[in-house]
Amino acid sequence: MPSITIKDGATFEATADKRLVLAIEDSGVDILHRCGGYAGCTTCRVVVHEGEPTTMTKAELEKLQENEAVGQYRLSCQILCDHDMTVEPLMRVSSSNYDDAGKRPKDTITPDAEWVDKPTS
Ligand code: FES
Repeated sequence: MPSITIKDGATFEATADKRLVLAIEDSGVDILHRCGGYAGCTTCRVVVHEGEPTTMTKAELEKLQENEAVGQYRLSCQILCDHDMTVEPLMRVSSSNYDDAGKRPKDTITPDAEWVDKPTS
């Protein structure tokens, strides 16, 4: 199974079809996912230090472009754990003003994943 490492934290295994946001949360990290995993809020953002996917969902690309954030962070609700990665969650319940992380995202990527290449710049 792929191995996911939280920067300065734990390393754990996840199934290849698991959403990264859920793998991070289920490992005990209080990552935010305020929109419930629909590429709408960006609170599930992570920096991928190693193993950044070369593809992304169209929904993620459009949200990052809207926020002028392409190349700065990725949306963990739009990434599958299909290879080894080292990631750094950027927004957590404990360092925010939210009382909870948000509704738990579904097990499959929402909206339905339409894969595109990650922009090179
Ligand atoms: S963008 Fe909202 S949970 Fe990922």
